[in-house]
Amino acid sequence: MKKKLVVAVALLVGTTWVTGLEARPSKRFDERTQMCRIIGQGRLDWESEAWGVGGKKFQEVCKSCHGRESGKDAPFLHAQTYTSKGWNTIFASRRVPCAMDGSWGALSEDEIQFINDYLFRNAAWTFDPNSSDSC
Ligand code: HEC
Repeated sequence: MKKKLVVAVALLVGTTWVTGLEARPSKRFDERTQMCRIIGQGRLDWESEAWGVGGKKFQEVCKSCHGRESGKDAPFLHAQTYTSKGWNTIFASRRVPCAMDGSWGALSEDEIQFINDYLFRNAAWTFDPNSSDSC
């Protein structure tokens, strides 16, 4: 009896998880390059995950100031601090103080794009099927 319940719960959690994954954004319109980035496939798929360039550089560079205890006077940030749209705007305009004062300077344009892809994909509300792809 107990075992059956565990199996049922596991199945339920499993299905919810899989449907959730399917609703993740798979395309991102990049205003700077005017290109539609297919982030759900191939290289961009890999690089926009936590283990890809996007996820790693976000940890290494952005989180060095925006971590919980970085001591840098920067607000704590994680992927879900903003929605996909919010991140896209931040990266398109680059009007945040740290982008303007050169703190993003350690990053190449490609790396910045990958970080944008990573945040876009893992942002708040990305599991809502109505708020995913931007192109
Ligand atoms: C050298 C430290 C440093 C690095 C590296 C850095 N930031 Fe910042 N960032 C700051 C500081 C400090 C502020 C707050 C400035 C202020 O409010 O006057 C800030 C502000 C921001 C804000 C606005 C937050 C808010 O609540 O208003 C965003 C978004 C942001 N940074 C994103 C990023 C991203 C994305 C990266 C990596 C590409 C990054 N930052 C890298 C120091 C940094």
